Amino acid sequence: ADRYAVIGNPVAHSKSPEIHARFAQQTGEPISYERLLAPLDGFDATVAAFMEAGGRGANVTVPFKLQAHALATELSVRAQAAGAVNTLRFTDGVIHGDNTDGVGLVTDIVQNAGVALHGKRLLLLGAGGAARGVLLPLLEQQPAELAIANRTVDRAELLVQEFSAPHGVLRATGYDALDGEYDIVINATSASLADALPPLEGRVFAAGAFAYDMMYSRDATPFMRFAAGHGAAVRDGLGMLVEQAAASFLVWRGVRPDTAPVHIALRALL
Ligand code: ATR
Repeated sequence: ADRYAVIGNPVAHSKSPEIHARFAQQTGEPISYERLLAPLDGFDATVAAFMEAGGRGANVTVPFKLQAHALATELSVRAQAAGAVNTLRFTDGVIHGDNTDGVGLVTDIVQNAGVALHGKRLLLLGAGGAARGVLLPLLEQQPAELAIANRTVDRAELLVQEFSAPHGVLRATGYDALDGEYDIVINATSASLADALPPLEGRVFAAGAFAYDMMYSRDATPFMRFAAGHGAAVRDGLGMLVEQAAASFLVWRGVRPDTAPVHIALRALL
């Protein structure tokens, strides 16, 4: 079997092996997929050893996505835009870096949840690595507006300067200054990890709004509870996780797995 792995620290919690084992079984692709714990100061060495041992590609998770971006000898456009790499593919000594997080998010919202982004008013919460990673695929859907709200407004301003969009579409804001209503609100902050909520007013949710938390857990996150309390339809990030994995599988194998049954199976494991 061709070897693949997820490299992180910590990595024991990663669900990627469960996902890719199901993709392999379903598609009949002859792959194995393991967890690799890299020392915090040993990401490059771990990748080199895995390539030496015949590894064909890898997913990269916290805290190594920036180092993977630096290590790659070739970068896809979406990895360049994200400034981070979650997917590596090794061919003849070349290290291809890609990023499937953003396309995973958009696929889960548009195709799985059936919520169009085109022409809609979008609010993205957070301006860290997770937000940057999904900006290009979100803009490609041509929303009417994409506001980036962050506690530290400077970080949101930097993203606005870096990404180009038609005049007036992309803007940065603090939470205090948020006065519009939004059709789609996406939580890309790490607040849910601390069981916290971005300082948001309920009036940001337009009638019929859709709220998406890029985090997931067995129970609804504080953001999802808040959004549901203000009338929004809510969804967590488990579908994004499965879709980014499917996009990586496509990069490696040229085959797109059917994600729906894997999403259901993963939900049952939470
Ligand atoms: P990640 O890679 O997960 O994006 P990060 O780059 O450290 O991690 O960014 C974390 C993001 O979550 C930031 O946008 C951060 O806001 P600040 O830049 O203002 O710090 C945001 N964040 C974290 N905890 C938050 C909270 N309790 N409320 C609102 N935003 C929060």
